[in-house]
Amino acid sequence: MFISFEGIDFSGKTTQVKLLEHYFIGKGKKVKLIREPGGTLISEKVRSILLDKENHQMSIETEILLFSAARSQLVREVILPYIQDGTVVITDRFFDSTTAYQGYGRGVSLDAVQQINKFAVGECIPDITVFIDIPIEEMEKRKYGKNSRALDRMELASLDFFHKVREGFLSLSKTENRIKLINGILPVEEIHEIIIEEIKKIENRQQ
Ligand code: TMP
Repeated sequence: MFISFEGIDFSGKTTQVKLLEHYFIGKGKKVKLIREPGGTLISEKVRSILLDKENHQMSIETEILLFSAARSQLVREVILPYIQDGTVVITDRFFDSTTAYQGYGRGVSLDAVQQINKFAVGECIPDITVFIDIPIEEMEKRKYGKNSRALDRMELASLDFFHKVREGFLSLSKTENRIKLINGILPVEEIHEIIIEEIKKIENRQQ
C-alpha cells in the first residue's frame, strides 16, 4: 500500500504519519516512512537548496523542477522497490503538494504542473491521500506558538500564498476520489481514528 499525507504547513501531518506507522507496525507489517522533498541522498541535497532562506532569488520554474527532481529520484530509488517488496510506504507529501504550492500558490499553469508531475512519478500514484485541512489562522497560531521553530524559505511565504495553497488542496480533494479530507482542528487521536477507518476501506478493497 502506498499512502501520502498532504496539507499546508503546520497542519499536523507529521504527527499523524508517525501514529499510522505505529498502527501498521502493531499489525506486523513492514513500513517505510519518507518525507518530501527528501528521502534519498540526492533528494535531501535538493531539499536543502529548496528550503535554504538564502535562495530567495529562486525562480518559480526552478522551484517546481527541483521539487519534481527530488521526487523522481525518490520514486525510483525508494518508493517503487519498497512497494514491490510488499512494504507499506507512507510519505509526508507527494505530487499534490506541487499542484497546491507551485500550481495554485505560485501560479504555474495547472496543465504544466500535471505534465511535470506525470513525468516525475510515471504510474506511481498513492492508493490513498490523507489531506489534513486547517484554516490559515490556525497555521499562524501554530507557526508562532510555544513550540515554534526557525522557519524555512517556503514557510516564510505570504499569507495570501497560503490561502491559495489551501484552496488548491480543497479543490483537489473535490475532484480526486483518492484524496480524503480530514478536519485538522480535531484532537490528534480522533484524526488518527478517522484515518484508520479510511485505511481499512482500502485494505478491504485490496483483499
Ligand atoms: P515540509 O515542511 O512538509 O517538510 O515541506 C517542505 C516545504 O516544501 C513545505 O513548505 C511545502 C513545500 N513543498 C512545495 O512547495 N512543493 C512540493 O512539491 C513539496 C513536496 C513541498
